[in-house]
Amino acid sequence: MSSNSDRQRKNAARKAARQKKVRRQIAVLVVLVIVLIAAIAFVFQRSFPTISPKSGESAVVSAASPTETGSLADSVDVGRAEAESENADATEADSDSGTLISEISAPEKKTIELTSQMLHSGDLIVVSATHAYDFDANADSVNLVNIKDNQSYAYPVDKDELELARRALTPLDQMIKACDEALGTSVTAVSSAYRSEQYQQNVWDEDVATYGEDHARAYVAAPGYSEHHTGLAVDLGIIHSDGSYGSFSGSDNAAWIKQNCYKYGYIRRYAEDKVSITGISNEEWHFRYVGLPHAKFMYEKNYCLEEYISYLRDNTSAESPLSITTDDGSNYSVYFTAESEIDEPEGDYDISGNNIDGWIITEKVG
Ligand code: DAL
Ligand code: ZN
Repeated sequence: MSSNSDRQRKNAARKAARQKKVRRQIAVLVVLVIVLIAAIAFVFQRSFPTISPKSGESAVVSAASPTETGSLADSVDVGRAEAESENADATEADSDSGTLISEISAPEKKTIELTSQMLHSGDLIVVSATHAYDFDANADSVNLVNIKDNQSYAYPVDKDELELARRALTPLDQMIKACDEALGTSVTAVSSAYRSEQYQQNVWDEDVATYGEDHARAYVAAPGYSEHHTGLAVDLGIIHSDGSYGSFSGSDNAAWIKQNCYKYGYIRRYAEDKVSITGISNEEWHFRYVGLPHAKFMYEKNYCLEEYISYLRDNTSAESPLSITTDDGSNYSVYFTAESEIDEPEGDYDISGNNIDGWIITEKVG
């Protein structure tokens, strides 16, 4: 009896010891699982901190846009500095604040939509026998001003009512002034500038009546297809102080302006060696404003506008722009795109359509 009860006691003691061991093992296992989960959570948060932004942090990041703060690199630094300073309290209170979102997230890039209206306006539009001028697209932007009333240098103007796009007038004033000063004359004049469609019709009719249709086709654009509609084209002439006219073709003034017009953003539009491309005969007197830096590059390469537009289309992109340095040392980056949306450039920029199949983005980079 007593040996039976001893065995039972021993069995009970062994069972209790086994259960204690199992409980210990379970406890160790539970601790291990908790440590493992904690380790995974720590690693995950380090790798993907943006999945749980603290309030205020994301606003700081999005506020650091490139256009507001200068260069893209600068804006990242500014965003980081602002985030660190604005969240200083939170950073002290929470050791996890070391993973500020601004250290990892890139600032949002602004994009610009390039519209059909923009395709047909701007300094670089080609207007020719095959590319009509879009009056509607330019109605709000052409900004015509009367030359005589607004010129900053008093050169002769053939008719009181002649008008030009405002952005082309100051460079024209400077060009004529520099020409007169260089040659010691005061005869360089504007003989034609902006023309409405009706005015161009009159010019065409008059030329046909005087010289015949072949001459008109060689020298006069059909109404709706003239660069003079843009307000960016001028015909220069010679008008003496007594009001008499001289010949601009072959004059020293023509020679000087041919060599120097690019400095003022103007190009000689219809040259002898480009007739097969432009479709218009040699016109020593007709100049077109395209702006800088484009006039400089076209002058250096001896490209007419059609050639320059083709060059940009075939050789440039946002990733691989053309770099142009103007005579004053300014640097520009220029590219063509046929995409209707672009990232907004970081510096000062200009967008012009080519009036054919895309847009040219010009950014001042230095
Ligand atoms: N003389 C230029 C080609 C025009 O008529 O527009
Ligand atoms: Zn002309």
